[in-house]
Amino acid sequence: MVSVLNLSLLAEVEALSPMGSGALPACIDTQCHQDAESDVAPTCFGSENSAVSSDSDEAVVIEEAPKVQARASRLKVPSLLQRRQFGSKLSLSPSKIRMDVRPVAPVEQGSLEQYTVLEELGQGSCGIVYRALRKADKTPVALKLMRIADPEEFAAAEREYKLLRGIDHSCVVKAIDFFRYSKGAVLVMEHFDGTDLQALIGKTSHRKLGEATVASLFGQLVGALRHLHKLGVVHRDVKAENVLVSSDLRHLKLVDFNTAERVCEGGTLLDRVGTPAYMSPEVLLGEAVTEAADIWGAGLCLHLMLFGNLPADRNDFASHEDFGRALRAGGGFTPSTKSCGGSFAARAVLAKCLELDFQKRATACSVLEHTWFSASL
Ligand SMILES: Nc1ncnc2c1ncn2[C@@H]1O[C@H](COP(=O)(O)OP(=O)(O)O)[C@@H](O)[C@H]1O
Ligand SMILES: [Mg+2]
Repeated sequence: MVSVLNLSLLAEVEALSPMGSGALPACIDTQCHQDAESDVAPTCFGSENSAVSSDSDEAVVIEEAPKVQARASRLKVPSLLQRRQFGSKLSLSPSKIRMDVRPVAPVEQGSLEQYTVLEELGQGSCGIVYRALRKADKTPVALKLMRIADPEEFAAAEREYKLLRGIDHSCVVKAIDFFRYSKGAVLVMEHFDGTDLQALIGKTSHRKLGEATVASLFGQLVGALRHLHKLGVVHRDVKAENVLVSSDLRHLKLVDFNTAERVCEGGTLLDRVGTPAYMSPEVLLGEAVTEAADIWGAGLCLHLMLFGNLPADRNDFASHEDFGRALRAGGGFTPSTKSCGGSFAARAVLAKCLELDFQKRATACSVLEHTWFSASL
C-alpha cells in the first residue's frame, strides 16, 4: 500500500520526472547467487580516507516555512524528530553526553530542478529515496526526500548531511549536497547500485549466503564501523535495511546516518533511538548507547546472513524492557546452541558481537582481528 508520505512526495517528483508516476518502475531488481563463493572478492574491510572535515563554520539559515509545516502536518508517518527521540529519554550523566557536530562545508545551493528523478530505491521512517541523474553531467545520485515540519526537524535532517560529509570510507555512502525543497529537505548521496541486506536475504535461496561471501560482507560492515568509531561517531541504527549490497555480492555500503551521533571518547548518549529488533540489551534497558550497540546490530546482521533470521523476535515481548531483560537472561538463544549451520569460526565471531555485557563485547578492531576473515579469503 502506498503511504500518505509516498503519495505526497510522489506528487512532488512527478513534476520533475520524465516518466510520471504511472511509469515509475519497480525497485531495482537484484540478482543474488548463492553459489557466488568462487568469484567472491577477497575479504576487504574497506578503505578509510580522511578524518572529519572542519572546513567552514558557515551556518545554514533556517527560515520559517509555514506552508511546508501546514502540509507536512497532514502526513501520517513519524517525523524525523519523533524517530530520533524514539523510546523514552534516559537519564544518563550529562557530563558524558554527545558533543555537537563539528562544522563542515557550507550547504550548497541545490534544488530538485537540477535532477531528473527516476524510480524509487527504498524508503524508511524518514523519507523516500529515489534514483536520479544530475542534469549537468548525468551523474547518478540517490535523493533522500524528507518531510520537515519545523526548523528543529530541518536541523535534524541537516545533521545527517553534516555527519556524512565528514566521513570518507569506501563502505559508507557519500553525501553530495543538502537543500530545502517545498515539502522538506533533500539529501543528495552517491547512488549505490545494490539492494538492502534484508531484501537480499529474502531473495536468496534457503535465505542464506555462502560463508566466504558472508565473511567478505561482514568484514566490510565492521570495517565501516571501525572507521566511524575511530572518528567518535556511533551509527545507532545498524540493521539489515541500512546495509546495501551490490548485485555481485562483492561490495557493501552502510547508509542512513539520521540517528548517528558523535560521542566523547568512552562516552555515552542520552537518547534511546534506533530499531527495537536490532537494539542491544543495554539500549533496551536504558543503560547506555555506545559503540558497542553498533557491534550488536552488526552481529544481528551477521546472524541474518549466516542463518537467514534473527535469533530473537521483539514482537514476542510486551515492552523494550521485557525484551532487554530476556536477552540479558540469555533470551533463550546463544549463537552456538539455537542456530544450526556456520563454521566454528563464524560462530565465534558471532558470539563476540552478541556478547550480552556491552563492556565485554568485542570492538570493531578486535572483531576484524579474528582469523575467520583471513581463513575465508
Ligand atoms: N545512496 C543510496 N543508494 C541506493 N539506495 C539507497 C541509498 N540510500 C538509501 N537507499 C535505499 O533507501 C532506503 C531508505 O533509505 P534510508 O536512508 O535508510 O532512509 P530512512 O532514514 O528513512 O530509513 C534504504 O533502505 C535503501 O534501500
Ligand atoms: Mg533506514
